Amino acid sequence: MRRLSILLLLCLAPCVQAFSVTVPDIVPAPREITMARGRLRIKGININADTALDTMSLKAVRQFADRLSLVSGKTSSVATPIGLARTVSKGDISGMYFLKDASLSPAAYSIAVNGRAVVVRSSSYNGTLYALQTLRQMLPVQVYGTAQAPDADWSLPRCTINDEPRFAYRGMLLDCSRHFFGVDVVKKYLDIMAVYKLNRFHWHLTDDQGWRIEIRKYPRLTEVGAFRSGTMIGRDRNTSDGIRHGGYYTQAQIREVVEYAASLGITIVPEIDLPGHMLAALASYPELGCAGSAPYQVATWWGISKQVLNVGREETMLFLEDVLSEVAELFPGTYIHIGGDECPRDEWKTDPDCQAKIKELGLVSDAEVSAEARLQNYVTARIQNFLALKGKKIIGWDEILEGELAEGATVMSWRGTKGGIKAAGMGYDVIMTPNTYCYFDYSQSPELDKEPFGITRDPKRAVTLRKIYDYEPYDGLSEEAAAHILGVQANMWGEYIATQEHLEYMLLPRMIALSEVQWCEPSRKDYGRFLSGLESHGLRILDLLGYNYRKPSQNL
Ligand code: ACM
Repeated sequence: MRRLSILLLLCLAPCVQAFSVTVPDIVPAPREITMARGRLRIKGININADTALDTMSLKAVRQFADRLSLVSGKTSSVATPIGLARTVSKGDISGMYFLKDASLSPAAYSIAVNGRAVVVRSSSYNGTLYALQTLRQMLPVQVYGTAQAPDADWSLPRCTINDEPRFAYRGMLLDCSRHFFGVDVVKKYLDIMAVYKLNRFHWHLTDDQGWRIEIRKYPRLTEVGAFRSGTMIGRDRNTSDGIRHGGYYTQAQIREVVEYAASLGITIVPEIDLPGHMLAALASYPELGCAGSAPYQVATWWGISKQVLNVGREETMLFLEDVLSEVAELFPGTYIHIGGDECPRDEWKTDPDCQAKIKELGLVSDAEVSAEARLQNYVTARIQNFLALKGKKIIGWDEILEGELAEGATVMSWRGTKGGIKAAGMGYDVIMTPNTYCYFDYSQSPELDKEPFGITRDPKRAVTLRKIYDYEPYDGLSEEAAAHILGVQANMWGEYIATQEHLEYMLLPRMIALSEVQWCEPSRKDYGRFLSGLESHGLRILDLLGYNYRKPSQNL
């Protein structure tokens, strides 16, 4: 069967070159698309879905049919017929067929549009969702809106698509600590991720400037830690606007977002950043701090706090375990991110509990690694073991590589690519999020004065659309090490991003370029094709969905 279809494709290949057809603007570009001549007109929407498909797939197909019917003005019917395969092979009914094909990997799908029918194959929910996203991009752009557009060209180009992603982990981070964004903003962020087939939402929920997740056992984390008295103005940390800022997600809201993300094929990776970046927790429970460190205040400024958790005390470790137990219950995904970045260890050098713990564990300093850095290794390993008992794996920022890191941890490389290259070489799984390419709080243009005020001071550090598009995550890696790259993520840190409008401007269209880094083999990438498709099609999708974005013509 497979050999037959390859033979058919080979026979078709010369014909494809003999006439010119417009390849639809599908982003991220599918792995394989073969165009044929002509289009399939959609006269009515007759959708036939295989009863073997999962219920979420069937629901997604139904929603697709409803929207298509609404905007095209064509009547729709959805059926789950018996004996579907026979019907398709006879090819005597025009319509759309959604079939389960267990031979495909979970994220893979295929679409075949011929003169009579559309046949979509997938083996799992994500595959079905990706096929639907691709179909939407092949249809008139009005399919993204809600207004009726009966005069649009409701047809599909005849083609065959076989598609699956390059990387299994295709992430986007949102920092909700530095500025709090409500559930509706988060859902809209997830919506656009789903359009471009991203599948991991890294939710940065805690930091010095605000604790954002309700923890039942420690109510002060949100009563106290979720609010700060003001926010520094510009870059002067000695100033404050005096405006109380904050908010948090109740556990019911977290569950709602988890479920919503799952319906979009997105798994949430929650982050509880520890043992640094914990000022909001320390302001709530000062007894978690080091000797002589108090008083504590939820930070009103950006930067690295020297006030960190006292990890020499057993009570602090139990606090972390309690918090992570509730987090593990709320988030069904395998990974929990435990931060580990930017933890100054100065307080540990003089704190009696930390020093006693160092002694008890027999940790010593050498030329490369201090005893205090080894104390952080102990924290990481202990949390890793604790979460393993709950079936969870940890991810940490690349600082967790300093000293010794236990097997099974995944490293997120943020200080450029070197941490990721080193970790992958050592056999750890890695997610690449280098600030040099993937920090979406950085300016989109080197012309800083023409961009919103933000974190970037050096024009050379701008992350332009082109820069993210051209990022190649395997650069600098041996083949063996490259096998440890799980994927790529971009990070939206929120220090200077206080509004939804600004957030979307920083996200788009860079996230669309990111999607090709995450999904496409390098041979499928082409910046010229990407940019012209973005201008003619992609930006109209954003307009119809109501997103703010940076126009690429404004310098890159
Ligand atoms: C980070 O940007 N501190 C991970």
